[in-house]
Amino acid sequence: MHLKICALVVFVAMFAGCKKAEQERTSSVTTQDFGKTEKGEALSLYTLKNRNGVELSVTNYGARVVALKTPDAHGNVADITLGFETAKGYEGANPYFGAIVGRYGNRIAKGKFKLDGKEYTLAKNNGENSLHGGLVGFDRVVWSGRAEDVGGVGKVTLTYTSKDGEEGYPGTLNVTVTYTLNNNDEIQIDYLATTDKATVLNLTNHTYFNLAGEGKGDILNQLMQVNADKFTPVDAGLIPTGELKDVTGTPFDFRKPTAIGARINDKDEQLMLGKGYDHNYVLNRTGSGLVQAARAEDAASGRVLEVWTTEPGVQFYTGNFLDGTVAGKNGVHYAQRSAFCLETQHYPDSPNHPDFPSTVLKPGEEYKTTTVWKLRTVQAAK
Ligand code: GLA
Repeated sequence: MHLKICALVVFVAMFAGCKKAEQERTSSVTTQDFGKTEKGEALSLYTLKNRNGVELSVTNYGARVVALKTPDAHGNVADITLGFETAKGYEGANPYFGAIVGRYGNRIAKGKFKLDGKEYTLAKNNGENSLHGGLVGFDRVVWSGRAEDVGGVGKVTLTYTSKDGEEGYPGTLNVTVTYTLNNNDEIQIDYLATTDKATVLNLTNHTYFNLAGEGKGDILNQLMQVNADKFTPVDAGLIPTGELKDVTGTPFDFRKPTAIGARINDKDEQLMLGKGYDHNYVLNRTGSGLVQAARAEDAASGRVLEVWTTEPGVQFYTGNFLDGTVAGKNGVHYAQRSAFCLETQHYPDSPNHPDFPSTVLKPGEEYKTTTVWKLRTVQAAK
């Protein structure tokens, strides 16, 4: 009898334990108030959490990634993206932290391009060039947003209508961006757009990653691998010269995992022009599906980030313009090279380079691209 009671007690305890573990492993989706813009528009913060404790927070101000919390090889969780805790921070001066960049990611030379025989003049905000959509790009507008759970997977959908003539671009453009966090620790970003007049379009996400955790020093010892035999060299204004240059024998060869800082101070003309890496890589690909663009690894924490994309290029940027003036989450001032960006994209200034893959979107067509961030861990270095 006594034995039977014992067995029952053990069984009940085990059942309760399993239930608790199951609850801890449940994914969740929440929507919170994220304050107001200076103009008084209400903002939201959407947080998706998966069964492994990975947590992605996104706001509808600029469709930005506000935080990405992920465990390292020992299970210690850190936020690996630079940014702010409040909307006010994002409205202040900052270099596109976490933002969706549009209409055109990166530069258009002299803020001009021709389409169907007509010349368009864009807002110039980077010397004589137009950068990342102009003065008020998609990073500084309020999107409509909603978060939902689709069969145990969290998803944030953001939409924005850009008016005909906005920042100089033709056509009314309807854009939808979705962030999906699955239970394999993968964040999929899907971009969709349609237009009512021919226009140019190049959407990307400008998250700044530090795999050690934001505010935890520089990224120079983190390993980078980029799946590209060629890159697009630039002029002094960081506009592509048009050449597709072989990386062999240059500090731009990241075909094997290499510390970001290993060659960053080499006396190389391109590195000097960029003040470090700020260059578009021509991804090796066959077909138009998802390919691995890059893989970054922090040996100390064991965190790995793989970036997969349907795009033809990726801008590898080493936070060269971060100068310690901006204080982010937890008040840490973000110093030069305290993060890297992997902006999947079409090549910069494509509207002025007929040889580059086209960025033209016409009425009746659908712009559709996908980028996936895969979070992984490897055994951490001792
Ligand atoms: C991109 C550009 C850089 C810089 C950053 C934002 O990566 O290529 O030159 O403008 O965005 O500061």
